[in-house]
Amino acid sequence: MMKTLLSICVALLLPLQAVAADAYVPKVYGKKGYVWDEMTPERVEVLRLGGDPVKGKEAFRGCRGCHKADAAGVREGVYPRLSGQHTSVLIKQITEIRAGIRLNPKMLPFVEDPAIALEEIGDIAVYLNQVESLRENGKGPEDMSAKGKKLYFANKCDTCHGKNGEGDAAKAFPVLAAQHYGYLMREMKLIETGARGNSHPDMVKAIAKFSQTDREAVADYLSRLPDYRTLAK
Ligand code: HEC
Ligand code: HEC
Repeated sequence: MMKTLLSICVALLLPLQAVAADAYVPKVYGKKGYVWDEMTPERVEVLRLGGDPVKGKEAFRGCRGCHKADAAGVREGVYPRLSGQHTSVLIKQITEIRAGIRLNPKMLPFVEDPAIALEEIGDIAVYLNQVESLRENGKGPEDMSAKGKKLYFANKCDTCHGKNGEGDAAKAFPVLAAQHYGYLMREMKLIETGARGNSHPDMVKAIAKFSQTDREAVADYLSRLPDYRTLAK
């Protein structure tokens, strides 16, 4: 009796599981069903596995062509600085790019299987969180940090990204301090238009109020903030 029941359960469950795995549909920002901070099956698995920075350094080899050996990216900001970013944020971004939620066709082949295995995502994230970038990041063409600072606090960017642009590891809010000006400018635009694919809905509203000069000032301010890891605790 138990055996029959068990085989009925197995027969019923297995096809259901297969359907569930195949049926994962990425929901991008602005489309019906988008949930900020969705725990995709892959993200849950990466968080469960944890990471090893030694293995991560090795696995990061395939990323160096663009993000560079010290993970500083490039000054013009085409490739972002990844060093010091929170592990939780890196895992969210990498798994969402792989899942098709954050759109990054240029990078996708380098972070997909088989270039990077699921087990290596956590390793890379832990490594990047610790690595030090030795080169200076890209700043704005002129110092607009006073105006940028005012806008940053007046629009409550600090409530998520912190008083020093240090983000929040527990909530997966990214570090913005010492990021390249060019990258910050591009992301604000991609966030505003929804082209980035992932975004906190409250932030999209806040950024939409900015004019071009406002964005320049905020990006300049953030690019001139020191790496938060160098600040006294
Ligand atoms: C062909 C160049 C290229 C390669 C190779 C590449 N990336 Fe990227 N990566 C980019 C670009 C371009 C962006 C920024 C995209 C955007 O503006 O949204 C990016 C963004 C990212 C981000 C998001 C950063 C943030 O602040 O949100 C992470 C994390 C990342 N890459 C990790 C990796 C890892 C890990 C690898 C290797 C497994 C890798 N990348 C390989 C081009 C590349
Ligand atoms: C409610 C919390 C919240 C607020 C408020 C907020 N952000 Fe964000 N921000 C986020 C999150 C979360 C992400 C990462 C997006 C994701 O993973 O879905 C992000 C990403 C960014 C990025 C891209 C960083 C990267 O590494 O790619 C920039 C730039 C940014 N925010 C600027 C701002 C500015 C400027 C403001 C104020 C106008 C602001 N944010 C307000 C939560 C917030």
